Amino acid sequence: MEHKGEVLFNKDQIKEMVAEMGHILTEEYRDKNLMVISLLKGAFVFTADLIREIKLPLVVEFMTTSSYIDESTKSTGFVNILQDVNRDIRAFDILIVDDIIDSGYTMKHVYDVLSSRGPKSIKTCTLLDKPSRRQTEFECDYVGAKIDDYFIVGYGLNLGDYYRNEDHIFVYKE
Ligand code: IMP
Ligand code: MG
Repeated sequence: MEHKGEVLFNKDQIKEMVAEMGHILTEEYRDKNLMVISLLKGAFVFTADLIREIKLPLVVEFMTTSSYIDESTKSTGFVNILQDVNRDIRAFDILIVDDIIDSGYTMKHVYDVLSSRGPKSIKTCTLLDKPSRRQTEFECDYVGAKIDDYFIVGYGLNLGDYYRNEDHIFVYKE
């Protein structure tokens, strides 16, 4: 496809990064009651791999959030929860999982909404982070890698809902 730019992370690099995160999370959540809450759609590929690297009992729930309009590469700043978690989270240690943090609006909003429901604890995890783009105070607890200000696709990340099935992560070229 003509829009495929530089490869930022190939399949093996992603695998290694996810395994390392899973290893850390396995230690951190050993005596906890882990519920992974994955933010659809972008985080579904990462979540599927990450949970298999966490060698503990856990449950997975999904939330669908949206802050982009159609084929835009910028957040509107308004985060919509299109599909919520329909169960009581008070008995759980929540780990919110997203594919990438940009402005921080999505994670911040989901964190605030879920915190207000009184879970035992709540932390955040992202495969990638673009700290230079932050519009909020938000700091993520577990980050696979920090990257510069590129719009990237592949491994669940999309543009206009395409490229999610690519097994490497690359820069989208206009
Ligand atoms: P934020 O709310 O601005 O932090 O944006 C986070 C959401 O926007 C993520 O859940 C992604 O789905 C999407 N997003 C942010 N940056 C990128 C990117 O470079 N490529 C694809 N999706 C992105
Ligand atoms: Mg998203």
